[in-house]
Amino acid sequence: MSFDEKIATVRIQAATSLDELEKLRVDYLGRNGELTRYLRSIGEMPAGERSAVGAAGNKMRQRIEKSLQEGKKKLQQLAILKEMATISLDITAPADSSDSFGHSHPVLEVIDELVRVFWQMGYTVVDGPEIETEWYNFEALNIFKDHPARDMQDTFYLEGGNLPRTHTSNVQIRYMENHQPPIRIIAPGKVYRNEDEDQRHSWQFQQIEGLVIDRGISVADLKGTLLAMMRGILGEQTDIKLLPNFFPYTEPSVEMHATCPGCKGSGCSMCSGSGWLELGGAGMVHAQVLRNVNIDPEVYTGFAFGFGPERITAIKHGVSDVREFWRPNFNFLEKF
Ligand code: DAH
Repeated sequence: MSFDEKIATVRIQAATSLDELEKLRVDYLGRNGELTRYLRSIGEMPAGERSAVGAAGNKMRQRIEKSLQEGKKKLQQLAILKEMATISLDITAPADSSDSFGHSHPVLEVIDELVRVFWQMGYTVVDGPEIETEWYNFEALNIFKDHPARDMQDTFYLEGGNLPRTHTSNVQIRYMENHQPPIRIIAPGKVYRNEDEDQRHSWQFQQIEGLVIDRGISVADLKGTLLAMMRGILGEQTDIKLLPNFFPYTEPSVEMHATCPGCKGSGCSMCSGSGWLELGGAGMVHAQVLRNVNIDPEVYTGFAFGFGPERITAIKHGVSDVREFWRPNFNFLEKF
């Protein structure tokens, strides 16, 4: 018994439909197929010939299987091309008014509004890496190893020592390294913390960092800027107050409180009756931070601030659980 591989291969290549190809597969490789029967017959050959003929037979089988596969792929692609040729798309047809449209995310909307406020004040929007070295995230900002301030920001460490940034303050350093004053930037972006989630915390959130460096910048400039920003986003009746705090990269450091928009300062459940809400940190850039990036603190001073747009969005829209913002929950997001 023999098997003509050439003829089989030509017939496979000439097949014009998937059905035809399937029929050929059964004819050659099916349980009673021509090639199957040939391979079976090798078992009856004299022992001396058997192994060489058997090995050649198996190779032949592999080649036939391969041609069948290639033929199948070719015919499937052809079928797609044929179908595409029959579909007609009328790009002049009017839009279907029943389509529902998406909208921008409420947190990103707050970031956009803030960017607009700062843009009007002449700031440049800049970006920085989310995977950072310890130098840019901590050390250049005066947060040394074993400094208790490292515990303020629980960190995910990556193999090799880098980390997903815990705050957008890394962008201050990266920008100052490459730009001389005057500097006026904001840097919105994602940050990551290794902490347990609750209604007011999540392991990933957004921040907006601000940095201004020039001759003669003072706390009054910082306060005026924060006030303009908060009025721009929460309304003209908003006031702010700055309370002492500690950040290693600013001196003095403050935390910013703004009039609670829920009760306009008279006290409600949102602000636990105080009339104020804490919205972020700020301060005058530490002289050592300026030295770290070769800016002379005898000539230049500046301020920096950082706060979380999720918190502002939650306050604006009365959302009690910040985790909702980044869950894939369209029922929630469609409300905005
Ligand atoms: N990086 C601080 C945080 O994540 C926020 C912050 C505080 C940023 C003071 C600043 C600053 O630029 O001056 O909690």
